[in-house]
Amino acid sequence: MKIAFVGKGGSGKTTLSSLFIRHLAANEAHVIAVDADINQHLGAALGLGDAEAAALPAMGAHLPLIKDYLRGTNPRIASAETMIKTTPPGEGSRLLRVREDNPIFDACARTVRLDDGDVRLMATGPFTESDLGVACYHSKVGAVELCLNHLVDGPDEYVVVDMTAGSDSFASGMFTRFDMTFLVAEPTRKGVSVYRQYKEYARDFGVALKVVGNKVQSQDDLEYLRAEVGDDLLIGVGHSDWVRSMEKGRPSRFELLEADNRMALQTLQDAAEDSYGLRDWERYTRQMVHFHLKNAESWGNEKTGADLAAQVDPAFVLDERHARAGVAAPA
Ligand SMILES: Nc1ncnc2c1ncn2[C@@H]1O[C@H](COP(=O)(O)OP(=O)(O)OP(=O)(O)O)[C@@H](O)[C@H]1O
Ligand SMILES: [Mg+2]
Repeated sequence: MKIAFVGKGGSGKTTLSSLFIRHLAANEAHVIAVDADINQHLGAALGLGDAEAAALPAMGAHLPLIKDYLRGTNPRIASAETMIKTTPPGEGSRLLRVREDNPIFDACARTVRLDDGDVRLMATGPFTESDLGVACYHSKVGAVELCLNHLVDGPDEYVVVDMTAGSDSFASGMFTRFDMTFLVAEPTRKGVSVYRQYKEYARDFGVALKVVGNKVQSQDDLEYLRAEVGDDLLIGVGHSDWVRSMEKGRPSRFELLEADNRMALQTLQDAAEDSYGLRDWERYTRQMVHFHLKNAESWGNEKTGADLAAQVDPAFVLDERHARAGVAAPA
């Protein structure tokens, strides 16, 4: 299952991602947490100290390795240099699985020990000005997108991405890579404006989008969100003293998180599971091809000097059969 948390700056994306990750670990799910937000704070929210968080490897710095590994022996991808963030897998490509060890996880993932189990954490690394462009070749988020497009996940395996709702993710198709996108919104006009923008992009691609209200203080707050986003409102989360203590550097055990918030996290998990059950792998593959062709035409072909449309393997569908074999086999 692939899940994203998006929303306005400061809305609580990192906080809710980290709580959700802890909740999944407590439920014995297998989790890869990915920090793809401009402000890289997921490690800290998962309890890493400053030095540990700073020592996390940056996926953005390992793009050549990531491309080389995923390319495998795919004859349609001549070199890592011609592989762009949207290059889809095909026969011969290497695929990733949540529970395996592979050179990408060795280089880019670190195990984080939580109260109730271990999760793997990957981080894009700090963003620079040039990462925020619409069609950036060196995009750090591109490293995440490549991994998502090559990852075959099963029902009890979760990839949880803390990310921005930036133009980069709309141009590249990153926003279509998730079984469920949780849009974190405070009950304010600014909070819901990001929702409207997201909804507009999401509509044409069948993106499953649910609003998680955060810092909800009253019934009036909840009614406001309901009036603005209608049935897309999944649940509201209130102020958490547990989170506040953690921010004070006095973390308590996860089992002491407020009962209401625990229930809210279970609601998120249920919604994600329902949506994963509806995943259409063929459409999932078709969408990656759609965005690849779009990116190839708008900048990729020119940048690499190759016809990147030729990278598409028309017979290939990413699907659960690949969850067992590490290499993309013929259809
Ligand atoms: N439900 C909550 N209860 C208590 N504090 C909260 C809650 N949600 C968020 N916060 C606090 O609000 C602040 C912003 O939250 P957070 O960093 O998760 O937002 P963000 O959307 O990830 O922000 P950024 O855009 O900077 O990455 C943090 O100090 C966090 O601890
Ligand atoms: Mg954040």
